[in-house]
Amino acid sequence: MRCEKSKIMIFGATGYFGTYMVKASASSAHPTFVYVRPVKPHHPPSKTQLLKLDEHEKLVEVLRQVDIVIVTFGVPLILEQMKIIRAMKEAGNIKKKLIRRAAEESGIPYTFVSANSFGAYFVNSLLHPYDQNLKKVTVYGTGEAKFGCNYEKDIAEYTVKAATDERAENGLIIYRLPKNVITQLDLISRWERKTGRTMEKTFISDKEMVKLSQSSPFPEAVGIAIFHSIFVKGEQMNYELKEDDLDAVELYPDYDYTTVDQLLDIFVVDPPERGVAAFQ
Ligand SMILES: NC(=O)c1ccc[n+]([C@@H]2O[C@H](COP(=O)([O-])OP(=O)(O)OC[C@H]3O[C@@H](n4cnc5c(N)ncnc54)[C@H](OP(=O)(O)O)[C@@H]3O)[C@@H](O)[C@H]2O)c1
Repeated sequence: MRCEKSKIMIFGATGYFGTYMVKASASSAHPTFVYVRPVKPHHPPSKTQLLKLDEHEKLVEVLRQVDIVIVTFGVPLILEQMKIIRAMKEAGNIKKKLIRRAAEESGIPYTFVSANSFGAYFVNSLLHPYDQNLKKVTVYGTGEAKFGCNYEKDIAEYTVKAATDERAENGLIIYRLPKNVITQLDLISRWERKTGRTMEKTFISDKEMVKLSQSSPFPEAVGIAIFHSIFVKGEQMNYELKEDDLDAVELYPDYDYTTVDQLLDIFVVDPPERGVAAFQ
């Protein structure tokens, strides 16, 4: 019997995380469409649609060809997401969409994803592993708050699974992977053990972080506020999952996710690319 794979369209595909999303979708054999803005002349493989989000009719036409839409846009692009939702409503065929915000009211089935910290992104930002001579590291708060440190490849692969899973329909899926709940101090000492280097720690206190976020211009202030929430307040881990929340590990117990330790090993051998400007 032939099993039809859902066609997935990814918005944000050319960005840091979008690249992981495209790989995860294509490597699961889903026909994968990517949205690319018509600003860069060097793109266009065959399934690329070069159109502006303002070109409503064209967008509707493209969306009619797919089943699932995944959007990785950040906070400042909420209005752009609304354009996609409007076109999806008109296309009328979308079985599912994954958009982080502004989705419930559309009436189209959705899944929200709470990925916790992107592992490679934060190992890069906290430990600066590409700098072999670095002996200093900044610790936000006391360094003891727990956070989730999940490799982007796994986040993307879980997301493709959730996108095609009826159990995740109209729900919130949380990637709280037990072996990846870690503190900054623990992350630093594991890195020290792996590299044989000892890092001198500079601590930035809770108060200093608040002051810094208040005195910094946008968008730097957003990044500082996010670091404060994750690393000082521990807000990724200081709550229990609600009854309706979906736990990725429970939904996909056979998925062999990358542990923090394995991620650090990857960094020792072949460091993943650094992400930039993700919060802008
Ligand atoms: N949880 C975490 O630890 C963590 C870490 C980092 C990021 N994030 C989140 O992950 C998401 C993706 O971040 P990222 O780092 O991948 O972002 P990114 O590298 O800046 O990529 C943004 C993507 O959006 C596209 N885009 C930007 N403006 C657009 C517009 N006006 N119209 C259409 N497309 C537009 C870009 O296209 P072009 O290539 O054409 O510019 C690119 O494909 C964001 O929500 C971010 O907050 C989370």
